[in-house]
Amino acid sequence: MAAPGRTAGALLLLLRLSLVAGYPSGRVTESCGDMVPRHGHAPRPDPVHRVAVARTTFMPGDQIEVTVSGPEFKGFLIEARDAEDLSGAPVGSFTLIDSQESQLLTCGDKQGSAVSHTSAHKKTEVRVYWDAPGSAPNHVQFLATVLEKYKSYWVRIPSPVISQPKAPPFSTPGTTPAPSPASPAVSRLTKTFSTSGCGSRKFCVRSPSACDPAKEAACLFLSFTRDGQSVTVEMSGPSKGYLSFALSHDRWMGDDDAYLCIHEDQTLSIRPAHLTGRSHPALDSWDALEDMAWRLEDGGMQCSFRRNITLPGIENRFDLNTSYYIFLATGAAKDGRIYRHSQQPLITYEKHDVTGDPQDVGASRAPPLLRAHGALMLVSWMTTVSVGVIVARFFKPVLSRPFFGEAAWFQVHRALMLITSSLTCIAFVLPFIYRGGWSSRAGYHPYLGCMVLVLAVLQPLLAAMRPPLHDPRRHLFNWTHWGMGTAARIVAVAAMFLGMDLPGLALPGPWKTYVMLGFVAWHVGAEIVLEVHAYRLSRKVEILDDTRIQIMQTFTMAEAEGHGFKKAVLAVYVCGNVTFLVIFLSAVSRL
Ligand code: HEM
Ligand SMILES: *[C@@H]1O[C@H](CO)[C@@H](O)[C@H](O)[C@H]1NC(C)=O
Ligand SMILES: *[C@@H]1O[C@H](CO)[C@@H](O)[C@H](O)[C@H]1NC(C)=O
Repeated sequence: MAAPGRTAGALLLLLRLSLVAGYPSGRVTESCGDMVPRHGHAPRPDPVHRVAVARTTFMPGDQIEVTVSGPEFKGFLIEARDAEDLSGAPVGSFTLIDSQESQLLTCGDKQGSAVSHTSAHKKTEVRVYWDAPGSAPNHVQFLATVLEKYKSYWVRIPSPVISQPKAPPFSTPGTTPAPSPASPAVSRLTKTFSTSGCGSRKFCVRSPSACDPAKEAACLFLSFTRDGQSVTVEMSGPSKGYLSFALSHDRWMGDDDAYLCIHEDQTLSIRPAHLTGRSHPALDSWDALEDMAWRLEDGGMQCSFRRNITLPGIENRFDLNTSYYIFLATGAAKDGRIYRHSQQPLITYEKHDVTGDPQDVGASRAPPLLRAHGALMLVSWMTTVSVGVIVARFFKPVLSRPFFGEAAWFQVHRALMLITSSLTCIAFVLPFIYRGGWSSRAGYHPYLGCMVLVLAVLQPLLAAMRPPLHDPRRHLFNWTHWGMGTAARIVAVAAMFLGMDLPGLALPGPWKTYVMLGFVAWHVGAEIVLEVHAYRLSRKVEILDDTRIQIMQTFTMAEAEGHGFKKAVLAVYVCGNVTFLVIFLSAVSRL
């Protein structure tokens, strides 16, 4: 039953790996606007490639050949712009000459308004036709971004301007290369951030709570200090790759405003980014950030910057005058590429307005409500249900004495099963409270969970309405009761396997799968031992019965011997079961 979970995990991992590998497929529409690859590197100055046009005049409806050529390159993006407004929307559309090497993109809702590579094959030339639209501006210029390799690219290399014949002469200084957004000045920090003022002057998020980055290497620290209309952000933590925080409207990753400090060679680059879905962040330009500074130290990094509380006109940056959940994540980075965080990000327990009342808050990888959910489900579906089932199946003769008016085995069974059902009901609502709704991104786990809940509620209701012992319908009840109970346990085990991998409560390491398999084996083993034992006992009694010697006496002797054995098995089983449970509960509490 671990297989689906692990396959899904492997698939996700593959997906994540392919996401960080840049965009060899050339589907780079998020770069449509500024034409900057989202690779987290400053573009190179002084282009070495040429963007040539076949003609310098055009009429609406004309097809103009555009060529990008130069030293070997892997990727490219070509757009046409109004030469008098180079940062405006793309103009017209393209027709491919070589559809093996190039593909049309839809930029700004206009199909075919840009062309990019189809693969990372090296090439020295690309040619495409541009179709002049009826509404073409007087002067048009082509811009090309050329990617030599992942870390090395030139942005918005301009072509000569092409003009409509009757247009007034082209005057704006657009013929000089469009300024490529160079990386802004960044300075070095000289000392570690201080926690003084946390909760009084500045808003801090710290994990472990109230830790001090100057004293504890493992301290993840984020602070926001308001100063008029701007906010200074300081972030530090243990990471050799990258360190990041994100502002989110909800507790899911996705549609968030993020800021990353990425370790590259001997420097740190500080980048704003936005997250769409749970995929690789798309790095944005530096427009919004000022006063960037950083410092690297053994195994840790620190960076700070300032940004305006509101940034009208800058895309993807959230206003800092509202409340958000704050995520903190660290992960690996290589050559400036970032890889998915190795651990679940930390999330604040509530939404906070970082420019409102200064506070000093903590954050957690595993929210308490989800922890309680996992723990209660583990108690009921690993332990109480298993013991309850074994008692009912094998201990009727052993625990047959009346106890508070009913057979002891029945009292034990009923109590354990009622505990199971009640804990399930309580645990069931906790993720709903936490998410405020259905966990839409939790895979099959919630669906299996709902099946378990339905069975766990029906089971005691049906049992309360069971026909009397010697009623002919009693047989039917016995089968239904057994069938539904078994189904519930199987589905519950599947739900537990999947639950342990969910991001909200991901237990670390592959050991958990083996331990869960160990639990299943332990339980099945105990049932087999008891089953075989019961079978042999019944055989023994049958044989004795045939020879008709002292039937009653031997029977009770065999039974008594059997009771001792069964009790021993139960004791050993319960010890083992509780050990498995404790392993999981302590892992959940340590998250
Ligand atoms: C048989 C036992 C279990 C049942 C019946 C069950 C049931 C459910 C249900 C119905 C949900 C969805 C609630 C919603 O949509 O908001 C849920 C969510 C969740 N469960 Fe379980 N669960 C079980 C065991 C576990 C275990 C053992 C763990 C982890 C150790 C776990 C971890 C989670 C987590 C983390 C979520 C929240 C997903 C998210 O929103 O991120 N569950 N469970
Ligand atoms: C931030 O605000 C100041 C003054 O309100 C303004 O001069 C500056 O250009 C703004 N910065 C950005 C990046 O918008
Ligand atoms: C935040 O500031 C912007 C610009 O001043 C304003 O339009 C918006 O209503 C503010 N939001 C809140 C929640 O105060």
